[in-house]
Amino acid sequence: MTSNATTNPLLTPIGLGDLELTNRVWMAPLTRSRSSMPGNVPNALMAEYYEQRAGVGGSGLIIAEATPVSDRGHGYYATPGIHTDTQVEGWKLVTDAVHARGGHIVLQLWHVGRVSSSELQPNGDSPLGPTDVPSGSKTYVDDSGTRVDNSVPRALRDDEIPGIVEQFARGARNAKRAGFDGVEIHGANSYLLDQFTRDGVNTRDGDYGGTLEKRLRFPIEVARAVVDAWGDARRVGYRISPLSEHKDVRDSDPGLTFSTLARELGALGLGYLHAVETWDRSNADPRIETVIPRIVRAFKEGGGSLYVANGDIDPERGAAMIDSGWADAIAFGKAFIANPDLSARIGVGGPFNEWDSDTFYGGDARGYTDYPALSGTPTA
Ligand SMILES: Cc1cc2nc3c(=O)[nH]c(=O)nc-3n(C[C@H](O)[C@H](O)[C@H](O)COP(=O)(O)O)c2cc1C
Repeated sequence: MTSNATTNPLLTPIGLGDLELTNRVWMAPLTRSRSSMPGNVPNALMAEYYEQRAGVGGSGLIIAEATPVSDRGHGYYATPGIHTDTQVEGWKLVTDAVHARGGHIVLQLWHVGRVSSSELQPNGDSPLGPTDVPSGSKTYVDDSGTRVDNSVPRALRDDEIPGIVEQFARGARNAKRAGFDGVEIHGANSYLLDQFTRDGVNTRDGDYGGTLEKRLRFPIEVARAVVDAWGDARRVGYRISPLSEHKDVRDSDPGLTFSTLARELGALGLGYLHAVETWDRSNADPRIETVIPRIVRAFKEGGGSLYVANGDIDPERGAAMIDSGWADAIAFGKAFIANPDLSARIGVGGPFNEWDSDTFYGGDARGYTDYPALSGTPTA
């Protein structure tokens, strides 16, 4: 454990465009399914949760949970949206609370694509995917905790894609109205943009499938539209999970696919690229060592700014990753669920609270806002 706050590279400031962030201990996006229903509206409890993790002692940048850009983008019960005015008003509670504490927060823009149940879709319709092949995964459609199979999707027509690109752009405009400092495009973890990117899922013909260039067309159109909507590319990030095969999303050459995507994203001037490198370092894909640096190099050569690493990274490893130049910032997920004052704890060498996975999704304040800060730290 690096215990000297003045020398720990995780605790040094970093700029994201013209935003000055106090540390490199960023909070990874975490779905917690505690929005108010019906309507998927952010609420005061969510504001309290994010406020606890903001500012000095908390995270340099909070990446708020995955947030659907349209009613068809939902795939889990009680995930907050960014497609209605009521949701925008709800998010203002969150951004105001974070800013009052001197923190910064960006919103992760999400469309689940095929990873959804008809029970979560308007009129009980089929979810939308690149093809009609289901994800083979399960979801929860109410607060009972029961999991149901995701539904067989309907393949999107090419002429429907521009409408979804516009939904992402509207999501960015709404996020700006709601007071966010930027947005992260969710291109990871087997959701819609990831489904179009990878050749194991995108077996389409036409303008959005077939070749690598056509598979990347939709994600890049989204990135361009979001940059235009926000008006400052350095406030836009993009998340990928190039080596994950969760929910049956595979690619025959992730190094080529994602370095090509990363170069294009860099050329748009994006503020950061964020990768889930693995969920488990003890059982990680050995290609991390070659594929990730190749992707990061392409992003930066293209003109992109920061690289943010995530996935089963403890503070020692995170500090070493910054020190060696592997990453510019580290996004911590589960550690931030359990430790609202994570950067303060890193500064004093711990101890760290353990997370309780039973309370990850849904429910109330328990396992959400009741994790204690260390006494004596700024967030206590
Ligand atoms: C409860 C929970 C919710 C998550 N929700 C999201 C999400 O909304 N968006 C996303 O991109 N990743 C999500 N993830 C993945 C995390 O951001 C992160 O990649 C993962 O937890 C591995 O990082 P860690 O080892 O630091 O926890 C979630 C993970 C957990 C445990």
